[in-house]
Amino acid sequence: MDTAEIRRRFIAHFERHGHTVVPSASLLLDDPNLLFVNAGMVPFKPYFLGQETPVWSTATSVQKCVRTLDIEEVGKTTRHGTFFQMCGNFSFGDYFKEGAIRFAWTLVTGAVEDGGYGFDPEKIWVTVLPSDTEAKQIWHEVAGLPFERIQERGLKDNYWSMGVPGPGGPCSEIYVDRGPAYGPDGGPNADEDRFLEIWNLVFMQEELSAVRAKDDFDVAGPLPAKNIDTGMGLERVAYLLQGKENMYEIDEVFPVIERACELTGKRYGADEGDDVRFRVVADHVRSALMLIGDGVTPGNEARGYVLRRLLRRAIRSMRLLGFEGRALPELLPVSMQRMKASYPELETGFERIERVAYAEEEAFRKTLAAGTAIFDTAAEETRASGASLLSGERAFALHDTYGFPIDLTLEMASEAGLSVDEAGFRALMTEQRERAKADARAKKGQHADTGVYRGVLDAHGPTEWLAYSTLETESRVLALLAGGAATPVLRSGEVGEVVLDRTPFYAESGGQAADAGHLDFDGGRLEVLDVQRPVKGLVVHQVRVLDGELTQDAVLHARVDPEWRLGARQAHSGTHVVHAALREVLGPTALQAGSYNRPGYLRLDFGWTSGLSTEQVRDIEQVSNQALRADLPVSWQYMTLPEARDWGAIALFGETYDESQVRVVEIGGPWSRELCGGTHVDHSSQIGTVVVTGESSVGSGNRRIEALTGVEGFAYLARERDVVAQLTGLLKAQPDDLVDRVGDLVTRLRSAEKEIERVRVAQLLAGGAALAESAQRVGPALVVAHRVDGAAGGDVRTLALDVRGRLPQGEPGVVVILGVADGKVSVVAATTDEARARGLSAGALVKAVGPLLGGKGGGKDDVAQGGGTDASRVDEALGLVVIEVGRVVAG
Ligand code: ALA
Repeated sequence: MDTAEIRRRFIAHFERHGHTVVPSASLLLDDPNLLFVNAGMVPFKPYFLGQETPVWSTATSVQKCVRTLDIEEVGKTTRHGTFFQMCGNFSFGDYFKEGAIRFAWTLVTGAVEDGGYGFDPEKIWVTVLPSDTEAKQIWHEVAGLPFERIQERGLKDNYWSMGVPGPGGPCSEIYVDRGPAYGPDGGPNADEDRFLEIWNLVFMQEELSAVRAKDDFDVAGPLPAKNIDTGMGLERVAYLLQGKENMYEIDEVFPVIERACELTGKRYGADEGDDVRFRVVADHVRSALMLIGDGVTPGNEARGYVLRRLLRRAIRSMRLLGFEGRALPELLPVSMQRMKASYPELETGFERIERVAYAEEEAFRKTLAAGTAIFDTAAEETRASGASLLSGERAFALHDTYGFPIDLTLEMASEAGLSVDEAGFRALMTEQRERAKADARAKKGQHADTGVYRGVLDAHGPTEWLAYSTLETESRVLALLAGGAATPVLRSGEVGEVVLDRTPFYAESGGQAADAGHLDFDGGRLEVLDVQRPVKGLVVHQVRVLDGELTQDAVLHARVDPEWRLGARQAHSGTHVVHAALREVLGPTALQAGSYNRPGYLRLDFGWTSGLSTEQVRDIEQVSNQALRADLPVSWQYMTLPEARDWGAIALFGETYDESQVRVVEIGGPWSRELCGGTHVDHSSQIGTVVVTGESSVGSGNRRIEALTGVEGFAYLARERDVVAQLTGLLKAQPDDLVDRVGDLVTRLRSAEKEIERVRVAQLLAGGAALAESAQRVGPALVVAHRVDGAAGGDVRTLALDVRGRLPQGEPGVVVILGVADGKVSVVAATTDEARARGLSAGALVKAVGPLLGGKGGGKDDVAQGGGTDASRVDEALGLVVIEVGRVVAG
């Protein structure tokens, strides 16, 4: 029975019993706890939890699933596939244990003629949780199963949860006995290869608040209703019903193995090591196809990384099987052909899917070429020295210099009979990260060499930093620098650095841009261009001298531009508000990865792998502005880092904080608590407004949201209003009608374009009759060889076929049209049956004129097409056609 048929029967069975058929959700369905959808119930989670009310009380689906935890197991056992399809039936407070057991039993053991799967009832075993006497009893009564084929298994096997907080419950699994050839007697408790699980019935009744292991979890309480969630492994049932040994040999998967055999010249079934590789290829190619189909692209994090690993493992396995060519262009189309019956979008979107996959193979080939040579040398040297451990340095060099992922090194090492010093490798990775961070920090100061700043700090002590309390100070110049060295004076027009004894200026940090303002002194003025803290405790102002001469020890008036600071406070508080709104809308896993804000503008990068929908972006903006309208108080206080953590304050990954004293800024109490040294408004309403202007991708696994605050936000809205006003004027419509009006215009434009096209083709064809009339005799044949200016490709073809249709019936006819447009020539030849009977071939004619036109072409005997770039020899080409026809008919 075909996999597609098994799937059809499943759906039909439950549809017959009143279930609503729900199509598979995308593999990337957004669930902050999951990388991919990994069970049929995932899209229904909100219904099980009672967060949403379903419109139906029972449903059925065949859900695409990806599980990559056991990627290493692929191909080694008969059961593991990274991509699989889970057939499920679901009850939301409708039927419970008895219904679920009855439905499953009748489908599994129902006769094939009646739409069932026809499994022998004698071969069926089930398992239940020891405490679930109810399920045991039902299996006995409803299915007539003897008690010895109802086995008890503990929580580990017979309690199902998502592995993360969510719904869960006791379950009961259905097994098929494949016979003594596959293992010992004794039911699923004794052997899970012989007794193969095909279907899991979950009696979903509890909400779990924490899951530490399959048999170690906390129950938060009962679900609002008793539900049913089941999952039947489509691939498993397929291989049983198709009499195959494992899921890689079923109709949807095996053709890829067959193609791989052709390519490698190896036989499947000849060698166990090779067979594992063949299965890895077939499994991974299919999973990659499905993942790219759903929009994943290869990358270095999260989903993108899983895809990259699958593709690379497939390519590597082909190499190990002896195929050095480009593997994916050979294999991916085969997989698509098998899967398109169930997922037609794979075929329509194949161009994109191919592009993504083949580009990754190209990149990987380059990596492999460089890295494999290095690895081989390293392995050789390691072995030669009598060791069996590849050093952490070697693994690190492969990674750092050749982009060799560590898991590839691990795999190649294990194939070479070596192990890898993984701990050493990880230590080097950490070191490298630290170095990069320190570099980035150092570069922030004007000069990577911080020695000169340390000198100033040692001589004068830390700057008295008053940014939190005032915008103006009377200050004294402690040091002047130009070009990174001390200088006694800065003159008008010069740019240099100034260190003061005290300052009200905010130095760039925590994503907040430096303050702008001026330093005024007796007889002169400086503009502050930037403010940094190149070493801890020392604030350095980068300045341009507008007027006068500034000398060491001068006394000056430092003044932050109050407008600037207000804007900066709005933008920074706005960043916290947007962050909190983001987490409210997307869930707590959406965590800020970096941010930048300056007066009027903010951006926030956060870990998230898929693009946000328009609704999500709108919700984020709405939640933000609600927080502004609620006029939440903004306050800050100091505490120790552990205290801040207890308080739920968000600390950014990778930032270093001083353990003893951190500053926690909160907006609306616990609504937003972040460790932050920035300047903030006192009340959220002072932010003015938050206008989200964009959402985009910044590298793999991160998204960026951008927004405007304060007057910038209002100005943006005003500009939009202005555009609307211009459009209403132009279209003489009310603002509310604009969308309809523009939609209407676009529709009319499209139909006008279609009409123009229709008229153009009609005009072109109008010449067809005259052309047919002008046919000249060449021996027994009627020949139309003609030039048409302004026509290209498809038009030329349409015309040629039209003319052929107008030639007198029963005579040998040849039509060759040369269209000339934009200096290029399109040629189409068409012949009648009688002409072909006399050996006249359209393909041969096109081929004959090709060289003259500076191009080529060819095709079938009846219609052929080609082109060239030399329009100057069209007349010669037409002459050649007549000569060629003459030659052939003279034969
Ligand atoms: N949700 C259950 C499973 O995945 C049916 O096994």
